Amino acid sequence: MDFKGIIICICWLLGVVYGRKNVLFFAVDDLRPELTCYEGEDFPSFVHPPIHSPNIDKLAAKSLLLKRAYVQQATCSPSRTSVLTGRRPDTTHIYDLSHYFRDLGGNFTTIPQYFKQNGYISAGIGKIFHHGSASNHDDPISWSMPYYHGKQYGWESREKSWAAIPDDELIDKPLVDSQIAEHALNTLKMFAKGGPHEGTPFFIAVGFHKPHMPFVFPESFQQYYPTDSVKLPSNPYAPSEMPEEAWSNYFELRNYPDINMLNVTGDINTTLPDNAVLELRRAYYSALSYTDSLVGRVMEGLKTYGFESNTIVSLWGDHGYQLGEHGEWCKHTNFEIATHAPLMVRIPGMTDDGIVTEQLTEFVDLFPTLVEAAELEPMPLCPEDSSEIELCREGDSLMPLVKNPKGLWKDAAFSQYPRKGQVMGYTMRTNHYRYTEWVRFAYAPIYKPHWGKVYGIELYDHNIDSEENINVAYDPEYTDLCLELSIKLHAGWRAAIPYQN
Ligand SMILES: *[C@@H]1O[C@H](CO)[C@@H](O)[C@H](O)[C@H]1NC(C)=O
Ligand SMILES: *[C@@H]1O[C@H](CO)[C@@H](O)[C@H](O)[C@H]1NC(C)=O
Ligand SMILES: *[C@@H]1O[C@H](CO)[C@@H](O)[C@H](O)[C@H]1NC(C)=O
Repeated sequence: MDFKGIIICICWLLGVVYGRKNVLFFAVDDLRPELTCYEGEDFPSFVHPPIHSPNIDKLAAKSLLLKRAYVQQATCSPSRTSVLTGRRPDTTHIYDLSHYFRDLGGNFTTIPQYFKQNGYISAGIGKIFHHGSASNHDDPISWSMPYYHGKQYGWESREKSWAAIPDDELIDKPLVDSQIAEHALNTLKMFAKGGPHEGTPFFIAVGFHKPHMPFVFPESFQQYYPTDSVKLPSNPYAPSEMPEEAWSNYFELRNYPDINMLNVTGDINTTLPDNAVLELRRAYYSALSYTDSLVGRVMEGLKTYGFESNTIVSLWGDHGYQLGEHGEWCKHTNFEIATHAPLMVRIPGMTDDGIVTEQLTEFVDLFPTLVEAAELEPMPLCPEDSSEIELCREGDSLMPLVKNPKGLWKDAAFSQYPRKGQVMGYTMRTNHYRYTEWVRFAYAPIYKPHWGKVYGIELYDHNIDSEENINVAYDPEYTDLCLELSIKLHAGWRAAIPYQN
């Protein structure tokens, strides 16, 4: 290479590294899409008070807002692993909260790792991967800076399912999420003018623990939810004709001593006493608004440090959440209310006026979206067996929806949930239906369903039943539709891929 060539090459490298958009990547634990920006037709008709989420709504107003985005499995680690690797549970082989994808699935490149490989400094703050063995302690290879967790001052004791802490007691001993927001601001500052990382692009992941249980929050957030504004869910019963496999006994909630004391069994068609339901709903909303305020603080910092116009911002909840609907609590099911979760991506210069799409999208779509938005080398689609392939995707970049939010798109979103005794529930959301089959599943080394061994089928007609209260899978009127949807479910996500220009 001659001298001129070297100069061109250096300039190109500088342009590639220094002209790059930063990424601010929010994850919120157990955040269901009960946000003002998500209200509309054919969404679960939550019986809710006006939700106070001004900061997330403000972000949504400048983002591509995916109104119908579905997680690949409605529980923490399987969902997060799927988002962060861009692959589905049957590829990561992560269905629980203890195993690690690099041990069972493959040595897959994660979102932060890919940005790190592309010259970014990646920083992990709070809950991004599920903690402990599920991520070999936050997947060290993903991050360039020391991982930050914050300090526990004992507010989150397991004695009670929720707690409103007087604000002044939190001044010296802040909640973990407040520390996470504070650390995010300090980290942003390091990339600002005069900071040690000035000029280097960042990928900063900020994971908030609330509104996950226990619902602990500064007391002042209760003011947004006067007790008489909080209502009981309209459907505190299981869907008619629901197969038993569809049910979760919400052990996560029943483990708290204050709930355990109520002697609830978690059985189908039982639920908590009304006063407990109302208290928990109010506490969840208060915790949600607390988290919203922290998102606002970090977004304010982004502006203060001058990164607003060159930073991509994404925000997602790791799955939906049941607050007494169907008599269910927490997640761990295949219902719409557990699989449907918030997802938004702000791309400066492209989504500033806000773009809303109701196309069916999946959380595996986020990885290729961020890669395209940041103009990194695109990722190839994963082949059938991708265990040996470090970088590939099982979702599609959402960028075409920025240009045309009604454009041709995948016509189904897929999720799954395992049950005891080698049973897997595969579910699929189409434009008007949710269709689910609970079937026998072979774990290692096969990781495949036996479609022939069926334990239960569900079909919910969202044209007339957006709350999924009536399982019509055994209704003769729906026989033909069931057959058609069954074929589509077995064909899987590859067959639902949008036509690629
Ligand atoms: C996994 O991939 C990374 C990045 O390519 C590499 O550094 C590491 O050695 C790999 N680990 C194993 C166990 O192959
Ligand atoms: C639960 O209650 C609903 C509504 O009353 C009813 O349709 C359904 O059959 C019940 N399920 C079971 C398993 O009892
Ligand atoms: C729960 O069961 C225990 C032990 O049988 C009993 O002492 C207690 O009064 C019960 N509590 C309620 C709320 O029913």
